[in-house]
Amino acid sequence: MKRIALFLGLALITLILSILFSFCFFSNKNDITSRASISPNNISLSTLQQSTQTLRRLAQPHNLIVGAAVLTDRLQTDRTYQRLLAQEFSGITPENAMKFKALQPERNRYTFEDADMLTAFAQNHRMQIHGHTLVWYRSLPDWLTETQWNSAQLESILRQHIKTVVGHFRGKVQSWDVVNEAIDEEGRSFRDNLWLRGLGSRYIELAFRWAHEADPDARLFYNDYNGELLNAKSNTIYQMVKRLKQKNVPIHGVGLQMHTSINNPPDYRALAANIQRLADLGLAVRITEMDVRTERRFSSKADRLARQAQIYRSVMSVCLQDENCEAFSTWGVADHLSWLRLMMDRNDEPLLFDKQYQPKPAYRSLVELLRSTPS
Ligand code: G3I
Repeated sequence: MKRIALFLGLALITLILSILFSFCFFSNKNDITSRASISPNNISLSTLQQSTQTLRRLAQPHNLIVGAAVLTDRLQTDRTYQRLLAQEFSGITPENAMKFKALQPERNRYTFEDADMLTAFAQNHRMQIHGHTLVWYRSLPDWLTETQWNSAQLESILRQHIKTVVGHFRGKVQSWDVVNEAIDEEGRSFRDNLWLRGLGSRYIELAFRWAHEADPDARLFYNDYNGELLNAKSNTIYQMVKRLKQKNVPIHGVGLQMHTSINNPPDYRALAANIQRLADLGLAVRITEMDVRTERRFSSKADRLARQAQIYRSVMSVCLQDENCEAFSTWGVADHLSWLRLMMDRNDEPLLFDKQYQPKPAYRSLVELLRSTPS
């Protein structure tokens, strides 16, 4: 009798302990952890689902990086986000943490903590970092935009910023969007911005040269939107990067942002042709910021998601067909964290995972494509 009681007691204790353990382990959504305890060492690949069907594993034989734009506050606080990211993606683009305003909020005061956390996470999970972005007309600090600088001052500010930032991340950030969105909306000339007004269009060339001096191993990209297909803007980008190549400016590729919508699917032949003409210049291409708006008013949810899946799949398919297309990145991880919701207040569902971090048809279409395409 005593033995039975002892046995039942032990069984009960084991049961309670395992319930407690499962609760701690799985109730991680929105788990708030301190910056110190978020040391990426806390999340090891061994704790992740060991599936062979993840995007990153399936993309590896194709030599393709599958990336996502990452929000540092999510990475610091949300274990499900961390796990999904490390499990599915082999690349990280900091959505905001490496912008000028984030890294140099006051003149000569650099704040690297958040971005360092990202690079540590990437290193611990064997992911690459695509740095975003060294020169842009937005997300600039007030100290920079609210003062009238002469040309020499502005040149010195930009040079110092690029050298300091690229130098800091040397060996940790494998590629950079050196210049972002420098062509105007009509796609025919340089965008009027602080850098153009102060330095003329040579700021673009200078930025690439300074970035290369600070890290000769980093791959350097020009990144823009609406220049993915064959149109006025992509022609202007093409002519610009051609000139840069002719002048031996160290540029390695062009980022095609690929913000798109089910109402306006890309012309895939034009995309392939644009990638090909850049390849002919010796330039790589990355799909850098893909998302596909489903414009909720349009048809049933199942239909919207199927159309979205088809667009993701077709763009990835073009990328897989050209070895010069070296990365495929989405602008965010899950629908509720998309810039379209957080910044534009649009009730859309543009990414591969839903708000519960569950894979959507778009995700499954990419898995299926990567699996069925010979490498
Ligand atoms: O972090 C602050 C928060 O403390 C504050 O309460 C809140 C109030 O507005 O603002 C928060 O910062 C915002 C930040 O996103 C984080 O959500 C900024 O105001 C907002 O400007 C910033 O927007 C980013 C935008 O670029 C401008 O930098 C978006 O997240 C980001 O997705 C978007 O990304 C751009 C790419 O860099 C370039 N290509 C287009 C793409 C989409 O616009």
